[in-house]
Amino acid sequence: MSADFSIDALPPIPRPGRVLLTSPDHFRVEYVINPHMAGNVGDVDPSIARRQWDALKDTYERLGMEVNVLAGIPDLPDMVFCANQSLPYQTPGGELGVVLSRMHAAQRKPEVEHYERFFGSVGYEVQGLDPDLPGDFEGMGDAIWHPGRYLLWGGYGYRTDRQVYERFAEKLGFPVIALELTDPDFYHLDTCLCPIDEETALYYPGAFTDEGIAAIKAHFRRTIEAPEDDARERFACNAHSPDGEHVLIQAGSATTNDLLRAGGYEPVELDTSEFLKSGGSVFCMKLMYW
Ligand code: ARG
Repeated sequence: MSADFSIDALPPIPRPGRVLLTSPDHFRVEYVINPHMAGNVGDVDPSIARRQWDALKDTYERLGMEVNVLAGIPDLPDMVFCANQSLPYQTPGGELGVVLSRMHAAQRKPEVEHYERFFGSVGYEVQGLDPDLPGDFEGMGDAIWHPGRYLLWGGYGYRTDRQVYERFAEKLGFPVIALELTDPDFYHLDTCLCPIDEETALYYPGAFTDEGIAAIKAHFRRTIEAPEDDARERFACNAHSPDGEHVLIQAGSATTNDLLRAGGYEPVELDTSEFLKSGGSVFCMKLMYW
């Protein structure tokens, strides 16, 4: 898990082309497991949530991505955040697999089996965390592949435990850089780090240690810093670039969007206000796989 290498030395991996979404039929805020949910219990408008989710789906389709939809399940109100239950991977040899999460909150644990079944049905090698490994892991909420390279960025501290990444490195051979998260509003790595392409990441430095910031700057030639209000209130770093060109992002992050445009990217503003009530936006509402 040493960060002492050059990105160019890592094997190239194609960008994933398929998007998995989970339908928002049963999305609600029913409990509080992160600071953003406080005060929002019972507050989701299901018809607005549906329209916002439809717009996200349309956007991926318009960008030419293959979109697959898993049906949401009653009594699993957070299942719509389908970045969290698993980590799909492709090895440099081309093998496809997925590591299933061990969700931190009891309320979310039953979500995982639905993704286990999905990945079994599309021919992925499916594995769980080793039973002897203590601690939890929340999939692509905390573990994000570097675009185009075989390198995993692993956030830890709130939902995922650091030892999980040590085990991934030892057992699965993943090259991992682990990043400690330091602010409970940014409880998943995908709330504060958004890799856009091989060279560039959008991030919010206030959610990381000095060591973490140094690691991000060492491996992305260019970093774009989201200002605090965009990052904290509008989840600007929970954006997603499926192609290194468009950046799907919560509407209203004006400063961040200007910075993205200045960097040559095209922000695609989407309103995810109902999902922000639960502490999630674009990135965690989808799962990319190959
Ligand atoms: N209410 C969900 C939770 O706290 C939101 C998850 C959002 N996902 C994310 N990757 N940020 O677990």
